[in-house]
Amino acid sequence: MSMRSYDPEEIGTLLDTAAQLRDEKKSRVFPRRLEHRNIAMVFLKPSCRTRVSFLVAAADEGANMESFSAEEIRFGIKESVRDVARVLGRVFEGIVFRGYDEAVLRTLVEYSGIPVWNALSDHYHPTQVLADLLTVRDVFGDLKGLPVTYVGDGRNNQARSLAIASVKMGLDFRILTADSLRPSPEELDEIRADAKALGGSVLVTADPAEALDGSAVVYGDVWASMGEENLIDERITALREFKVTGSMMAATGRDDSVYLHCLPAFHDLETDFARQYPDVREVDDDVFEGPRSRVFDQSENRMHTAKAVMVLTVR
Ligand code: CP
Ligand code: NVA
Repeated sequence: MSMRSYDPEEIGTLLDTAAQLRDEKKSRVFPRRLEHRNIAMVFLKPSCRTRVSFLVAAADEGANMESFSAEEIRFGIKESVRDVARVLGRVFEGIVFRGYDEAVLRTLVEYSGIPVWNALSDHYHPTQVLADLLTVRDVFGDLKGLPVTYVGDGRNNQARSLAIASVKMGLDFRILTADSLRPSPEELDEIRADAKALGGSVLVTADPAEALDGSAVVYGDVWASMGEENLIDERITALREFKVTGSMMAATGRDDSVYLHCLPAFHDLETDFARQYPDVREVDDDVFEGPRSRVFDQSENRMHTAKAVMVLTVR
């Protein structure tokens, strides 16, 4: 359900498998390890990357993927989550689920009896983080001790999942955010405990110099997550000084530092929302489109990591 469920060895295996599956696909080798398996995709929030990643990964491995919208499933309106879970568990071999509250995910896990992959919740975005770590590993090799700075809303699903997984993999993880958007003290305590046990570290600061010094990766996300669009004005006020610019990238002091973003990103004025809120940009177009940006390699890695998740967990 979240990266908390996985230990560093398991995360390492997922990344190794994703890299191997990527090599196979590039060589046009398709062993169809999921033939005669059926996967349900239930998304209560919109998606592009996660949806196409699981869809194409399943097709490559010979699985059938059936997609359901919120209107069709109608959790808690037409039918209880428990009953839907039991039906899906009898018919499918896995569920890709994107929703809001963790409680729904927990019920799906408990009552379906089949793997349930969290394709984003209000709290976590674990399948994204696998692609993030694979991309960082592709660029820098060893993850141990590598400084990575997340810039933006420090208490959202992406920051939380990235922090949990990063310290597990021994990264020197930093969150650059406004004081009002720090992760909760309880969450930070848990992440710090993992960091102490597993060798990583975590820093939360509003000081760009402290957060960026020596950083190999600068990581962005939207300032208002899905479901929080009504908070955009206060987020602009809180985060406008944290927009990633060329000078922020230069503040890493490294020629080889790269920019990552889970996407979708506000970096230009080519969407209605960005035109309505021209100050909402979390990253300058120059950085997003520039030579340090690896965002589309990262996006492609969503598919290879989704495939690894399914291949390793579907029975
Ligand atoms: N990064 C990500 O999860 O993108 P989608 O919302 O398009 O799936
Ligand atoms: N924090 C973002 C991530 C999108 C992939 C959101 O939840 O909307």
